[in-house]
Amino acid sequence: NEGALWGGRFASGPSPELEALSRSTHFDWRLTPYDLAGSRAHANALFSAGLLTSSDHAALLAGLDALGERYAAGALHPDPSDEDVHGALERLLILEVGEEIGGRLRAGRSRNDQVATLFKMYLRDHARTVAVLLLELVSAIADQARGHLDVVMPGRTHLQHAQPVLLSHHLLAHAWALVRDVERLRDWDRRVAADSPYGAGALAGSSLGLDPHAVARELGFDDSTPNSIDGTASRDFVAELAFVAAQIGVDLSRIAEEVVLWSTQEFGFVTLHDSWSTGSSIMPQKKNPDIAELARGKAGRLIGNLTGLLATLKALPLAYNRDLQEDKEPVFDSVDTLEVLLPAMTGLVATLTFDTARLAALAPQGFSLATDVAEWLVREGVPFRIAHELAGACVRRCEELDCDLPDLSDAEYAAISPLLTPGVRSVLTVEGSVASRNGRGGTAPDRVREQLAELTDRLAGH
Ligand code: ARG
Repeated sequence: NEGALWGGRFASGPSPELEALSRSTHFDWRLTPYDLAGSRAHANALFSAGLLTSSDHAALLAGLDALGERYAAGALHPDPSDEDVHGALERLLILEVGEEIGGRLRAGRSRNDQVATLFKMYLRDHARTVAVLLLELVSAIADQARGHLDVVMPGRTHLQHAQPVLLSHHLLAHAWALVRDVERLRDWDRRVAADSPYGAGALAGSSLGLDPHAVARELGFDDSTPNSIDGTASRDFVAELAFVAAQIGVDLSRIAEEVVLWSTQEFGFVTLHDSWSTGSSIMPQKKNPDIAELARGKAGRLIGNLTGLLATLKALPLAYNRDLQEDKEPVFDSVDTLEVLLPAMTGLVATLTFDTARLAALAPQGFSLATDVAEWLVREGVPFRIAHELAGACVRRCEELDCDLPDLSDAEYAAISPLLTPGVRSVLTVEGSVASRNGRGGTAPDRVREQLAELTDRLAGH
């Protein structure tokens, strides 16, 4: 068991089956730059505590830098005998600087506090990347909204025609959900930045007089962990990020589902750009929304990563247990998934072409102005319960006559109720309907312009 991190008390080396099960380098090797940064900070802490001579300290830093350069050049690899990234890097460091110096670095630290810290550092970097990619998607949505400010469309509830809305208003609804996701990532980062587990050791802290606060600051954290057991045993930071990733997946899937529906023959709301859609190997006419479908499918995967992780964490006794090695693959996968999915979604959304004439023609269909009739009656002093009944009677009459609300004659309206004077026609246009919903957050064109400005301001803050 040459080169392993443990072995002194063992008479025989690990079985190949154990090694195969235990090995994590195929997924934790990506932590290498963070492990090296942690080792640099730890070497500095050992030096400050008087546990390294300045020449040993300098040799360690030079060795760590050399490993970093080889990693960056793609020339540093773990050996099949390495259990994990931490062990591999210690072995490789010793090859660089010799056992006498390289063997000093492990004093006062454990893989338990190392891995918890490095994992936080890795995830903080990638959460930042995901936030940037999300903001690019939000900008693409906002650009589409800006380009279609006054286009009307059928607004839906239960997927049935409900009330006319502006396309820009509908698109911005997706943007706000994604802005909250960006803010979730920022909140998460503030919480994760609060404490660095380095210095917690295996679980109990260190007796060597090292300064965990200095290590924390060097690694970009605000402070070190106030509790070494919590620092090494907790993974709520992983679960929380996996949740945010799952929520992002769910939000993307809702955009995706609309793109899928909207690009069907029956809806005909949008056409996809050739570069952002796919064909069929047998049907020459096909143009498929594969990006949207993959987004919809990957939401399931992101949710699975979250639930798998929570199941791993459930009922784990304190402090570190090897189960915790299972914490990495799900959330690495979540981050990797979003890093390929988000740019594709941005391109898909940015290049959608809307059939604005069709959207406008469909907007009043399905009696979507019935609420306008009821609210007009309310403004005329009629109680809403009665107004609702009367507007419903108008819809029923239209169904009998196979026509739409604007097609009913004055006499037909008067026959339903004398309260329905010709004045009701003022609200029987889509433009009138949309313009009348002018409270904050409503779909009136002026409000949507304000909303877009508010969104732009909010984005400027990120
Ligand atoms: N590779 C492990 C992990 O990812 C860290 C090693 C801790 N191992 C141990 N026996 N304490 O969780």
